[in-house]
Amino acid sequence: MDKQKMIAALNEDLAGELSAIIQYLIYASKANGPYRPQLVSFFMAEVPDETTHAQFLSNKNVALGGEPTTTPRAVAPAKHNKDMLERVLEAEKRAIEDYTARAKQAEEFGDKGLQVQLEDMVRDESGHYEETERMLREWPL
Ligand SMILES: [Fe+2]
Ligand SMILES: [Fe+2]
Repeated sequence: MDKQKMIAALNEDLAGELSAIIQYLIYASKANGPYRPQLVSFFMAEVPDETTHAQFLSNKNVALGGEPTTTPRAVAPAKHNKDMLERVLEAEKRAIEDYTARAKQAEEFGDKGLQVQLEDMVRDESGHYEETERMLREWPL
């Protein structure tokens, strides 16, 4: 794992975080029905976490000499509450997988601080995943 590959990988992760911010923000506005208040709170509560992740990735990119992307990964379309939660679950699953792989690459790259930060992000995304999975577990519709 050389520096240019590390920068490119972190930029792909940044695109994912920018996408997550947009996904939660827009899904919050689209949530309807009797669970709207809870879903708005749930989705909006994720935005600060994903923003912190995006900020870290952008800063690290610059620190390594790269140029942070401003283009988010495409947000999956979803119409109804359950679709939105399922798309969130998929996005969080990918984030867990990506940061697990990235932490290993950071170790190979020899950047312990980056490795530890990415492992913290695996923890954060695992929390997001588990909360979403539990909401879907007994979804009534
Ligand atoms: Fe994130
Ligand atoms: Fe997340």
